[in-house]
Amino acid sequence: MKILGIESSCDETAASVVVDGRTVLSNEISTQIPIHTLYGGVVPEIASRKHVERITQVVDLALKKAETTAEELDAVAVTYGPGLVGPLLVGVSFAKAFAYAKNKPLIGINHISGHISANYIEAPELEPPFLCLVVSGGHTHLVRVTGYGEYEVLGRTVDDAAGEAFDKVARAIGLGYPGGPKIEKAARNGDPDSIEFPRAKVADHPYDFSFSGLKSAVLNYLNHEKMAGHEIIRDNVAASFQKAVVGALTDHVSMALEEFGEKRFALAGGVASNGALRESVRQECERHGVSFYCPAPILCTDNGAMIGAAGYYEYQKGVRSGLDLNAEPSLAL
Ligand code: KG4
Ligand code: ZN
Repeated sequence: MKILGIESSCDETAASVVVDGRTVLSNEISTQIPIHTLYGGVVPEIASRKHVERITQVVDLALKKAETTAEELDAVAVTYGPGLVGPLLVGVSFAKAFAYAKNKPLIGINHISGHISANYIEAPELEPPFLCLVVSGGHTHLVRVTGYGEYEVLGRTVDDAAGEAFDKVARAIGLGYPGGPKIEKAARNGDPDSIEFPRAKVADHPYDFSFSGLKSAVLNYLNHEKMAGHEIIRDNVAASFQKAVVGALTDHVSMALEEFGEKRFALAGGVASNGALRESVRQECERHGVSFYCPAPILCTDNGAMIGAAGYYEYQKGVRSGLDLNAEPSLAL
């Protein structure tokens, strides 16, 4: 079963051909990061325009590299939410036109479900049920994957997403966009124990996350040090901040492993490329005797392969979208 997966919810125009939800024949990603870096973050209008310029080429290239043709595809899967409305509309409109023109079934995919499904690609033995922590620029969810495409959300962020916190702190210390990889790099040269930043807990909702307090603590620290005339050691701020985020995320993972007793745990989303987070969660899983899964960094970031993988399992369940499929910027998991 060959599925074309299309993703355009934020600043990556991506397309991929995936066989049976697990084997990736091609994975084309055209990133807009260099453009948005000029503005310190994603500018939605520019992102939409760039998706329009690139989507046809990206899909053509994905088909060519997969050595397949549109006619040989079994279905077209596309992200229809959550994300930025303009960028989502480009992918959805393209996929609808393509599916109509080539007479192929269309399947709308939830972007977060896509991130989780990226785990199926390199781990043929991974099957639900398992626990998953999804950490990206827009989302922080701890979920139980009860079946393919079926989720029970245990907790989510009540304010900033983990990736958003990385991006905001990076901006505050002058590292620029996107913050995650830059903070990780700076943190390698810093002392994670040099500054004590808080690991927030959400009262009465132990599985929820909160990162805005941590972000404010970093901003307060920076202001305080500047006022006192002290030199700010950027690498130390990056390392201490990263330690606090990784610590908070790992605490939640540990709690879920103890309570739910699942034998498998997976990471997903852009922040899952972070080496310190991967290592910390891997160790926590090892301590609990739980198998740990995490996609390669290229499958953690936004990509079409994860949409093709999720699309396969939706297809198997008989899910089909009509040509009235619309972008849903606030789609829930
Ligand atoms: O999943 P993704 O590509 O897009 C969304 O769906 O949001 O995630 C992007 C986010 C950004 O906030 C970026 O700073 C963060 O993932 N990120 C990282 C790393 N690489 C990307 N955060 C921490 N460490 C990294 N190495
Ligand atoms: Zn994403």
